[in-house]
Amino acid sequence: MPVAAAEVPVVAIDGPGGSGKGTVARAVARALGWHMLDSGALYRVVGLAASQQRMDWEDTAGLARVARDLAVVFDPLSGDEGRIVLAGSDVSAAIREEAAGHAASRVAAVPAVREALVDRQRRFRRPPGLVADGRDMGSVIFPDARLKVFLTASVEERALRRYKQLKQKGIDVSLPALSKDMAERDRRDAERAVAPLRASPDARILDTTGLGVAEVVVRVLHWVGEAYPGLARREGPDA
Ligand code: C5P
Repeated sequence: MPVAAAEVPVVAIDGPGGSGKGTVARAVARALGWHMLDSGALYRVVGLAASQQRMDWEDTAGLARVARDLAVVFDPLSGDEGRIVLAGSDVSAAIREEAAGHAASRVAAVPAVREALVDRQRRFRRPPGLVADGRDMGSVIFPDARLKVFLTASVEERALRRYKQLKQKGIDVSLPALSKDMAERDRRDAERAVAPLRASPDARILDTTGLGVAEVVVRVLHWVGEAYPGLARREGPDA
């Protein structure tokens, strides 16, 4: 019998850009053998598609149409971070550029765009489980997730992490410009009227300033064990 989506376990990992949530979510998903939803990538693809179609940023109905009709495919098995294909073109690198991040935060502030993406995000919830990373995974998309984690870190550390990440990918940026852009994006994400960036009251808040990825992953996996104690048994050979 197919498992109802609501019975599939979900771990929601939210937080601001550079808090490490993407890296942590990916490592947790890999350790558990679960699916992964990088919702930021989805907003980045919408931002990129809107820029490519030269949409007017004030045309909220038009932006929502772009989000609804988005011909995007997430191929999680290709490469380290998976491959994202938009209308036949590989946009995995293009969406990581700061311009796409900026466009993402603009379209993300439009309520109709967010609404258009709700079901698409919920469809990622498939057995054996989902680790979802974003801003509103615990508060809006998967409010019934039994584990909600909110990762934070100082703005300086987050800018430095993003700087190193982009450098590694051969993308040239200046640290002060990145820091300024990040603070501005934080402000816009926190102040917007719909789904503002805020920890759910039932989220576990973890400040990752000065912590390594491995330490954070171990902590989250421990919480997964507490939230979904039956999992090991269900997935074991006797299940
Ligand atoms: O996480 P990432 O930096 O890739 O997200 C890009 C932008 O997409 C964020 O700045 C935010 O504005 C938006 N976003 C969102 N809700 C999500 C994920 C991302 O509003 N669940």
